[in-house]
Amino acid sequence: MKPKVFLTAVLLDDAMQKLNDLFDLSVHDAQLHGPITPSLLRQQIENQDALICFLTDAIDHDLLAVSDRLKVVANYAVGYNNIDLAAAAQAGVWVTNTPGVLTESTADMTWALLMAAARHVVPGDRLVRSGQWGGWAPTQLLGTELNGATLGLIGLGRIGKAVARRAAGFGMKIIAWNRSQIDTGELQSLGIEMVSVDDVCSRSDFISLHCALAPETTHLINQQRLEMMKPGAIVLNTARGPCIDERALADAIQSGTLGGAGLDVFEREPDVESKLKQLDQVVLAPHLGSATTQTRMAMADLVIENVIAACRGDQPKTPIQPRHGNTG
Ligand code: GLV
Ligand code: GLV
Repeated sequence: MKPKVFLTAVLLDDAMQKLNDLFDLSVHDAQLHGPITPSLLRQQIENQDALICFLTDAIDHDLLAVSDRLKVVANYAVGYNNIDLAAAAQAGVWVTNTPGVLTESTADMTWALLMAAARHVVPGDRLVRSGQWGGWAPTQLLGTELNGATLGLIGLGRIGKAVARRAAGFGMKIIAWNRSQIDTGELQSLGIEMVSVDDVCSRSDFISLHCALAPETTHLINQQRLEMMKPGAIVLNTARGPCIDERALADAIQSGTLGGAGLDVFEREPDVESKLKQLDQVVLAPHLGSATTQTRMAMADLVIENVIAACRGDQPKTPIQPRHGNTG
């Protein structure tokens, strides 16, 4: 008997093929019906062995209590702030994520936003399309040079380190803060100096977030820290929207104290603070960090591996925490 699996939105074709071959699959077609609602998800999860879900699905205590049969919640994401881990542990359900496979694509996206914000690529594109461009001019859309600038990383996990490797190639000085200690040899080989969050904010020309969303990182970038930043500094976020007080960020850019921002994530997706949308110095992307064909397929493969292992009664490859509760 194939494990019964529920998937909350359609993945790319090759992944759907694999899922259909391996599992007794039910899927919510979000393209057709819109994002799945909590009540529909509750109905669907009954009698399933596994749930494959996304950062947009809130997996809470009530939902985890619905099915006795559920063995694993496999999040198709590296972040897992959408899942109540304590409730999952209590229910004896594994929770897995997709670390590693999206590291390089997310670091690339950070770099795309950093360079776009530093060099006014988006306003430049708008100017060319508008027909108003009058030709080369010596003071037009002047940006910030990367060579010699300081990049400050908040969060130095896999993605933060991958961003640091890119920065070295651009001749940037790198400082960072991380919640836990990082091996000194590794820091030396990456050329990173560890400092406090406040020092990252006050010393950097570019501040980029790569931390997980948790109570202690919610509004980590707030008005007070924005005021510490250098004039002209650029803030980048490919982590989670609520790590930044979006309104305070918009105010700091509008008042001219900050140089701009490159944002891939927002506090209340898909809503975006309207003030941000009016600022030319802000580059906005619709949560595309892991959005390459290669990465999205690798994420699917890892999710599949996790579901197979959990349904077989084995430990999945990338569990977020050990499973306990009544079946462990
Ligand atoms: C995307 O935001 C992820 O956490 O994978
Ligand atoms: C996640 O924590 C990562 O940086 O890959």
